[in-house]
Amino acid sequence: MKIKNITTKQIQDSNGKPTISTEITLEDGSTGIGTVPSGASTGKTEVLELKDEDGGMSKAIGNIEVIKNGISDKDFNTQEEFDTFLIQLDGTEQKSTLGGNTILSCSIAFAKAMAVSQKLELYEYIGKIHGNTQYTLPTPQILVMEGAKHGNWATDIQEYMLVPNMDVFKTFDKAFNAGTNVFRKIKEILEEKGYSTDIGFEGAYCPKEIQSNAEAFDIIVQSITDFGYTPGEDFTIAIDIASSEFFDEQKNMYILKREGKELTPEQWLELQIQWYEKYPISSIEDPFAQEDWTNWSRLNTEIGDRYQIVGDDLLTTNVSRIQQGIDTKAINSVLIKLNQIGTVTETLNAIKLTTANNMTCVISHRSGETLDTTISDLAVGTSSKYCKFGGPTKEERYVKYKRLLDIENKLLVR
Ligand code: PGA
Ligand code: ZN
Repeated sequence: MKIKNITTKQIQDSNGKPTISTEITLEDGSTGIGTVPSGASTGKTEVLELKDEDGGMSKAIGNIEVIKNGISDKDFNTQEEFDTFLIQLDGTEQKSTLGGNTILSCSIAFAKAMAVSQKLELYEYIGKIHGNTQYTLPTPQILVMEGAKHGNWATDIQEYMLVPNMDVFKTFDKAFNAGTNVFRKIKEILEEKGYSTDIGFEGAYCPKEIQSNAEAFDIIVQSITDFGYTPGEDFTIAIDIASSEFFDEQKNMYILKREGKELTPEQWLELQIQWYEKYPISSIEDPFAQEDWTNWSRLNTEIGDRYQIVGDDLLTTNVSRIQQGIDTKAINSVLIKLNQIGTVTETLNAIKLTTANNMTCVISHRSGETLDTTISDLAVGTSSKYCKFGGPTKEERYVKYKRLLDIENKLLVR
């Protein structure tokens, strides 16, 4: 398959920051558009997001011309061939020549155009190249409260999410609906307490009046109960601590601003264990800083049989870091973000390595999002166990849940 044309432009993400949107037209006229999200609490080993001095995309857009020239009359029969071409043209580990964002916009656009060309839904195209036909919907980790960099440092913990029990709710539709019920309850509780109902980057509540990290757990447990559900049975709680954001490398201390505590890794581990014993928590993301492999392994060895221990900043969707996580027993689950690694093919390789080692994948959005719904199709196409797409109401998050609802409907009528 030859590429007839590539066009690109700058658009704004949900935080009003410039990002790139690229459209690819194949020789048979099929088209696809890829837009790229952006993280705020990024991992150190993510590929480069190429930006101008002022944050603009003119360099990235200029590099699309380089890609266009490199393509000339080439034939690409598979996603892997196209992505390998992009990787080789860039030639760097961090995709710093062309930019990870530039490359990913092309990789997604090509995938979507190929799906159209092959008359497949995007999740079917992804399934086909991934060797999967047993499509299943992911269990959503629905964001209800947020803090840290995403939410005015209301809490040190960055994300508090509801995990519906799929044995209870059965379908994605029912689980998502129940999650939104609890989300609304949280607003009522915050109003009763006289707390603000400010919304953070990812569409969940981040009241600045909150006193501690634990108070957010209390509010969530109360909201689950108030709606008539049972905490620990109908819903558990997933958290993303994003602890690299408050780890002081020089001091080797975790600095919890909200609680006014400076903790050694041992003390920080102890405090976490207290939360995990007290609250109905099932999944813990980034409990230790991104280079603190020893403490990750300690935690996973201690509680990994009962909790999902998810590596995000630690692993950055990078197969060699995931392998290190496996070798050191640091994790039992991997967060998957397309723009951490920069191509569809490499993302699928990260998912393959994870599932081949009997670990779960959590397909994730970024804090700066677009209306692109590729990650919904990625979750279904790879039958990944979990997804986290943020709060249920903000449009750039809702469209991703909506895409899953639509896919579930399609799969159910078959
Ligand atoms: P980010 O946050 O997109 O700002 O990196 C999401 C996450 O940490 O999971
Ligand atoms: Zn994270």
